[in-house]
Amino acid sequence: VNDLPDFFELVGEGWQADLVATGDRLMVEHSDLGLLRMGDETVVAYRYRDVKALSMAREAGNMPIAVLARRSSARERRSDPDALVPHENAFFSMLADQAFTHNPPLHEHTRRMLGRQFLLHNVHRFDEVALEAARSALVALPGRVSGAADFAEAFARPYVGAFWGAIIGMLPEESAEVVDLMRTVRRVFMLERTPEDTAAADWAAARYVDIVCRATDRGLSGGNELLAQMAADLEAIGEPGKAGSLGAYMAANLFDGFHTVGVAVANTLYVLLAEGRYEDLFSDATLLARASVEALRIASPLLLTHRYTLSPLEYEGVELPVGTGIAMLWGSPNLDPSVFESPHEFRWDRETQVLFTFGGGPHLCPGRNAARMLVEHALSLFVAEGVCFRLVPGVDYRWEAASAMRELVEFPVEVRRPG
Ligand code: HEM
Repeated sequence: VNDLPDFFELVGEGWQADLVATGDRLMVEHSDLGLLRMGDETVVAYRYRDVKALSMAREAGNMPIAVLARRSSARERRSDPDALVPHENAFFSMLADQAFTHNPPLHEHTRRMLGRQFLLHNVHRFDEVALEAARSALVALPGRVSGAADFAEAFARPYVGAFWGAIIGMLPEESAEVVDLMRTVRRVFMLERTPEDTAAADWAAARYVDIVCRATDRGLSGGNELLAQMAADLEAIGEPGKAGSLGAYMAANLFDGFHTVGVAVANTLYVLLAEGRYEDLFSDATLLARASVEALRIASPLLLTHRYTLSPLEYEGVELPVGTGIAMLWGSPNLDPSVFESPHEFRWDRETQVLFTFGGGPHLCPGRNAARMLVEHALSLFVAEGVCFRLVPGVDYRWEAASAMRELVEFPVEVRRPG
């Protein structure tokens, strides 16, 4: 690892402002280089071939919660660098129940428990719930004739909040509060945080867990079928380290449902509008499924997570000892010019390729089918209802700076609906 080129030297100051731009630069200027060194304990993978190979490597597991909390808290700008945030705080203790921080033998069970509910062949049992959530969120978009709104605020976040809320039997006011809390919890994705950011995210995470636990307990006693199946799965797990209650498990593992799927719905519409492709959906219904794949290739919501070597891993002559963090820049391989011609251009007829929007290999996102279904239902409802959107002229649409999440700072749109 010590012989690898140094990431920080290559990318220079300000690299964290835009992870996609940094990845683009590396792929163009250093396409000959593979892994880069990011300090003593971490390497970074950004090219398509490296991310693909490493995502499949069994030796590269999830980063255990104590390591993740320690390294993540180092992102905080603080006067006392030794005063790290303990992983017992609310956000990290929630994350400790997420499959994303588990490794064998526990990982297989906690992953399957979620994944089996959202397999491709059975995710469509939630179609009607999704459509109903989309319909109710659509009502909040302005005027029957025309108006302007922030799309993420007015539609995307309430829509996915209502969907996941309905799945576990939340009251509408509980879903609405969770949607609101997500705006604060998401500060954990900032690549540089202040102690105030950490404290706010932590407070919001505690409240979120509390609401989900209450709703889950209510749903269980009310006979919610999905919760009953998952409770039985949790009960059957004999490995140490599992969540102490189904509510705690649901809060941890649905976090991306409540948060990241909202970003995906917004990013899909934004890319379609920015690339002038939204209108195409009205003339060809078969494009609906392809829209989110291509839009989220260009604007993948989750740009960075860390894998962690559980046993020694040799990759292209580089020996990664146990305990090496592997920063996976998930947004970059989707834009690798050696694989995708004019990678930032939206094309309906792109050849099918393995994409990394949802990660890959043994940790491939178990929520991906639900996420795609939710994006598709939103678009299909817009088409069915004849809803037209336009980016607001003169607005400078910007991505959140220094964030591991590709999310627009603001997303105002003009909305026109048939009167
Ligand atoms: C568009 C929305 C989403 C995106 C972009 C996304 C992205 C990702 C990515 C890139 C990973 C791989 C992380 C890694 O290997 O290090 C992942 C894993 C994971 N995602 Fe998602 N996700 C989304 C939605 C969801 C949803 C809806 C759920 C829950 C219902 C979910 C639950 C998880 C879990 C539990 C893992 C860990 C899997 C494991 O380690 O085996 N995600 N996601």
